[in-house]
Amino acid sequence: MKILKAGELDFACEVLRSGDLLAFPTETVYGLGGNAYSDEVVAKIFKYKNRSPFNPVSVCYPSFYNASQDIEINPKAELLAKEFLPGALTIVLKKKVNSKISWMCSAGGDTVGIRVPNNSIALDLLKKLDFPLAAPSANTSSELSTTTAQSVTESLKNCDDLVILDGGTCSLGIESTIIDLSVENQPKILRKGAISQEEIENRCGFTLVETECSKFSHYKPTKPIIINVQKIEKEDALLAFGNPISGAKYCLNLSSNSDLTEAAKNFFLMLRKLDSTDAKRICIMPIPNISIGLAINDRLKKATQKDK
Ligand code: TXA
Ligand code: MG
Repeated sequence: MKILKAGELDFACEVLRSGDLLAFPTETVYGLGGNAYSDEVVAKIFKYKNRSPFNPVSVCYPSFYNASQDIEINPKAELLAKEFLPGALTIVLKKKVNSKISWMCSAGGDTVGIRVPNNSIALDLLKKLDFPLAAPSANTSSELSTTTAQSVTESLKNCDDLVILDGGTCSLGIESTIIDLSVENQPKILRKGAISQEEIENRCGFTLVETECSKFSHYKPTKPIIINVQKIEKEDALLAFGNPISGAKYCLNLSSNSDLTEAAKNFFLMLRKLDSTDAKRICIMPIPNISIGLAINDRLKKATQKDK
């Protein structure tokens, strides 16, 4: 595994042009990127992550305009893009018949999730390439997402030839919100994320129907997760929010002054750290169910769900 500094963009581009994968920073979480126009490269992404071939992979472009060569745009999608892109949103749209995007990104369907990340390193990288990047989160499937280059090396530790472009800690820390506009008169929200449903509805003037996006298990630490805890045992690790309850063997605080934005940024990294301790369980204090707290709680709920 090789870690590149943020300035080594030309080398990063060479890696991608030669058909290898590059983990790169976005404002949400790190992505595992590869040429979205190459079946062979996209197949490698699925292999590295151990991802189900039935789970589609979103595609990153330097601008929404660039995406229009591959996907069918409609007025609602255009409005969404104008309001929020570049930003923490993935917009699912119909693929053009002559689109060059690998069929594997759509996992058997006829849609593609489009993302324009609001991170200058990612945008500079995408602008230098003449292909978009298929890029799921840079973690082994069903595990926690990664928000630092170091976490990527830990989650994808078996991928010896992986190159990682180090852009420091992701500024938001929670994945993008996914909006499905492939049927324009039925806008759906498939995943809660860094931008709240309320904000999207307010700024765009249409209502989103909540639909569960993925039947695949997600965000699983190796230890049992207990949410909304009021009391803990001495072998527990505590992920606190606000004033920590006392008595835990290990304690990290998402935000001691109860700031949800700070909590989101710390979320995956702190969960990973507590998961690597010898505590029996990870106990998480209640997190307010508003704004980005909704997205944090959504991930915690999935982390506690039993695999089907
Ligand atoms: O913030 C993010 O979205 C990050 C960064 C790296 O861009 N990416 C990310 O990718 O979270 P991933 O693959 O871990 O999650 C994307 C989700 C998947 O659950 C997938 O099922 C859904 O988006 N998705 C992607 N393309 C889709 C499509 N065409 N239709 C429906 N769902 C789609
Ligand atoms: Mg993921």
